[in-house]
Amino acid sequence: MGKEIWKPGNMLYPLPVVMVSMADRDGNYNIITIAWAGTVCTDPPMVSISVRPERYSYSILRETGEFVVNLTTRHLARAADYCGVKSGRDVDKFQTLRLTPVEALRVKAPLIGESPVNLECQVKQVLELGSHSLFLAEIVAVHAEDAYLDEQRRFHLEKAEPIVYSHGAYLLCGEQIGTFGYSVRRKPRKKGGKSGN
Ligand SMILES: Cc1cc2nc3c(=O)[nH]c(=O)nc-3n(C[C@H](O)[C@H](O)[C@H](O)COP(=O)(O)O)c2cc1C
Repeated sequence: MGKEIWKPGNMLYPLPVVMVSMADRDGNYNIITIAWAGTVCTDPPMVSISVRPERYSYSILRETGEFVVNLTTRHLARAADYCGVKSGRDVDKFQTLRLTPVEALRVKAPLIGESPVNLECQVKQVLELGSHSLFLAEIVAVHAEDAYLDEQRRFHLEKAEPIVYSHGAYLLCGEQIGTFGYSVRRKPRKKGGKSGN
């Protein structure tokens, strides 16, 4: 058993695949699919998205400094792919895909109604890195679909069938195999039985 040596590249997979919605100064909407996205800070809550300057979306993001990150699901996979291969220069992606723009609370960019979680974001910093520019943004409001809340108000994103992106493919998230801290949590003793190993 060995490992092949690959040339240096972006091999951090799987990644979230999100639909980033925005509004230009005239109120025209657009959506760009982004996989180069991440959580970068808890307090203040911040995310990053990396966008190539040649994208139609780039100048809108630069000009307005606002966007919404919309999480994707099995149901939105085709739309996410479409928004990642078609440009807002040529098509109205909301209209073509019959997605529902919903007014946001804190930004002018619209939420995508069909997405289970929407993060309203305000850009704080832009870093021109090379092929991509990194938009660092603060999350100023979060919308979570109440259909996925249980009676204790716990959110079950898995019920929305979220997807990830890995090596060019869209994948459903798999089964749960643990929860935060489970590796160090003591297992409850079985009644009358031996403690497990
Ligand atoms: C799965 C997937 C992930 C993508 N991730 C990014 C990304 O992180 N950054 C980027 O600039 N473009 C990314 N793209 C490409 C853009 O989404 C694509 O060029 C899109 O058509 C740009 O739309 P616009 O011209 O309306 O801005 C991705 C495309 C796909 C399909």
